[in-house]
Amino acid sequence: MSAEKIQIFDTTLRDGEQVPGCKLNKKQKLEIAAKLDELGVDVIEAGFPISSPGDFEAVNAISKLVKNATVCGLTRANKKDIESAAKALQYAVKPRIHTGIGTSDSHIIHKFNSNRDAIIERAVEAVAYAKSFVDDVEFYAEDAGRTDNAFLAQVIQEVINAGATVVNIPDTTGYCLPHEYGAKIKYLKDNVIGIDDVVISCHNHNDLGLATANAIAGAVNGARQIECTINGIGERAGNTALEEVVMVFNQHKELNFYTDINTQMLTELSQLTSETMGMFVQPNKAIVGSNAFAHSSGIHQDGVIKNRETYEIINPADVGVNESSIILTARSGRSALAYRLKGIGFDTTKNELDVIYNQFLEIADSKKEVVKEDLIRLMNQFRQPS
Ligand code: KIV
Ligand code: ZN
Repeated sequence: MSAEKIQIFDTTLRDGEQVPGCKLNKKQKLEIAAKLDELGVDVIEAGFPISSPGDFEAVNAISKLVKNATVCGLTRANKKDIESAAKALQYAVKPRIHTGIGTSDSHIIHKFNSNRDAIIERAVEAVAYAKSFVDDVEFYAEDAGRTDNAFLAQVIQEVINAGATVVNIPDTTGYCLPHEYGAKIKYLKDNVIGIDDVVISCHNHNDLGLATANAIAGAVNGARQIECTINGIGERAGNTALEEVVMVFNQHKELNFYTDINTQMLTELSQLTSETMGMFVQPNKAIVGSNAFAHSSGIHQDGVIKNRETYEIINPADVGVNESSIILTARSGRSALAYRLKGIGFDTTKNELDVIYNQFLEIADSKKEVVKEDLIRLMNQFRQPS
């Protein structure tokens, strides 16, 4: 059976940008949007046009700039929001309006002081109104993660009947476990008429560190679009990280999914987003953290030097990193020391290495990392480079 495509919906510029401290100006948004288009994402959620004149202008400018991806604008389920999005998206080659409303009892009661029937009515009206401007309308059932499945299916049925082309099932609070989220998608597949004719989208938050796992569970159970951000930035603990889902599909061919992402650009996009937003990437972040391909314990280093695959499941070149790094610390062994010395022009015999290694350990115990300059000093005491 041939692999099926998972569409990548990037919301770095909307769910990501709404994080405190991550605000971007128009020029910065355009720079990231151009790179996302080059990266190969299927959809760029460019912003929430009604939220501010600046965001409206940015969505408008991105619509003019982007040539390949669908450009999407977020709205609430009301006419003003939808009109604003439609206007902001007017120049897009492929425009999409993303409208929706909270469907969990918590949202219906506390946010809207409303009831289920009225929520369905608003959802249907919003989709139908958005449809009068664009063909491609995505509906989000906010807090679907905590919405009971029978009511969620009813909402999704009605919005599909009203013309939604994509149905987004957000786990807004990052509450679901992967098997629950997967079962939710399967429930919709089994209980909503016409669902096979629309795209089911996963939108997962990371409050329990499960955003990527939940998105994968969604895909396995029938979703064909994943909403994600570069470096997993987003509200609170963030969203599904784009680089993670893409590499999961790349490394696990048995899942039989592929994306159109140029994985060799992932590190570049991570750095650009981090620098532009001033949002530091934790060193141990999967795929794009500075330690993702760094080895520092002697046992691991020895393995990697003999064969990279002993401790690496991804070839660093596949995500745009030149090579793995062997970091010298007091936990490093002789083979790592010899490897690093060779890298700077010092070939050592076994006997020489025994002597150098003891001196190396003394330096290593006195600092966090032994760097090239330390090695050169050490070797200058010992002998000149060959
Ligand atoms: O998390 C969420 O529910 C959202 C929607 C607005 C799509 O970001
Ligand atoms: Zn979200």
